Amino acid sequence: LRQRGTVHHDASQQCWQVLGHPEASTVLAEHTIFSSDVGDLAPRSAEIELFQRGNFLRIDPPEHRRLRGLASRAFTPRTVTGLAPHIADITSELLDAIGDRGRIDLIDELAYPLPVIVIAELLGLPAGDRPMFRRWADLMFDRAATNPDEPLTRLAEANIRAVTPVVRDMNAYLLEHIRRARSHPGDDLTARLVQAEIDGQRLVDEEIVGFVGLLLLAGHITTTATLGNTVLTLDQHPWAAAEVRADADLLPAVIEESLRLRTPFPRLLRRTSRAAELGGSDIPAGSMVAVWLAAANRDERVFPDPDRFDPHRSPNPHLAFGHGIHFCLGAPLARLEARIALGLLLTRYRDIQVATDAPVEQRDPWTMVSLNKLPL
Ligand code: HEM
Repeated sequence: LRQRGTVHHDASQQCWQVLGHPEASTVLAEHTIFSSDVGDLAPRSAEIELFQRGNFLRIDPPEHRRLRGLASRAFTPRTVTGLAPHIADITSELLDAIGDRGRIDLIDELAYPLPVIVIAELLGLPAGDRPMFRRWADLMFDRAATNPDEPLTRLAEANIRAVTPVVRDMNAYLLEHIRRARSHPGDDLTARLVQAEIDGQRLVDEEIVGFVGLLLLAGHITTTATLGNTVLTLDQHPWAAAEVRADADLLPAVIEESLRLRTPFPRLLRRTSRAAELGGSDIPAGSMVAVWLAAANRDERVFPDPDRFDPHRSPNPHLAFGHGIHFCLGAPLARLEARIALGLLLTRYRDIQVATDAPVEQRDPWTMVSLNKLPL
């Protein structure tokens, strides 16, 4: 795609492809021109309509600021640092369960359970329901049709049909959870949302569904992806694994460089609310714009020798967490979880290798750069 230009119109997908780092940053920063509300791409089912009401990832200001503000205090670096001992305890329990078994699947045993337990606890959801959360996330992401030669509108129609049954189950489950939180308020984030007021008004249950659903889904599968991707990257670069083992302070940079090279969300979507000039192209109002974080993160104007894994890059302004007003709310939590989990894993096991006699399974990378299976 990049050979066709850092910004170009794609006739088969019927959208504008944005592949350069400065251009992607501009799109994400200029939220008044490039709207996150892409809901009119295809007619939505009632189920998806309900889920989107509080899903502020897809909502523009001023509503976006109000909703995000309700959750932002729970995810500041300072607040999440307080979770470190608990995250370490959960990780240790998961590693204890692995013990000295010589053979494991990292996704099943650590990369999936850790972040889902953490986010479920924050939201007051029973962590024991996590097999169901995993099924929802798998269905949502693996059913998403991604044929790169189809127009985005046709893909959106197919996706809506495919994910509506899953969203129906998820809405019903979350509505029940929210009603319980109203009648028996606890100390979790859902209980706080139920009681929160914006301009003197409380949120209705239907607004909280997508809000909690967004945090539940965004709050775990991406971190699962990062844990698996980083272990795979270290396996492919044993010198880096040796360096981190010798100097644990290098781990954060290794995680950031893995996020750059294996960007969990490779592409974000926006819609122009008015005509715009970008990278020398004139984009008409109402156009779909695909922002390729995965390509921006390999832009040689910003990252010399971009395909090379180099944890010593400084600075490393990758866009894996997005940019602008929708910058990932959970980035401090994701970074903390990854540092603790990988730190403990590498300390406890002196020799970790990806198995060669069983397949490493990845998701469809058009939707997510993430592993479903990582046998070690
Ligand atoms: C937004 C990536 C972990 C919650 C985003 C966006 C990206 C992203 C690219 C911007 C989407 C856009 O602009 O359209 C990631 C990655 C993660 C991660 C790579 C792990 C390494 C988390 C976690 C949470 C979370 C752990 C949970 C608390 C959110 C929320 C938003 C968001 C709520 C929407 C923010 C807004 O619209 O204002 N994430 N995320 N993410 N992320 Fe994350």
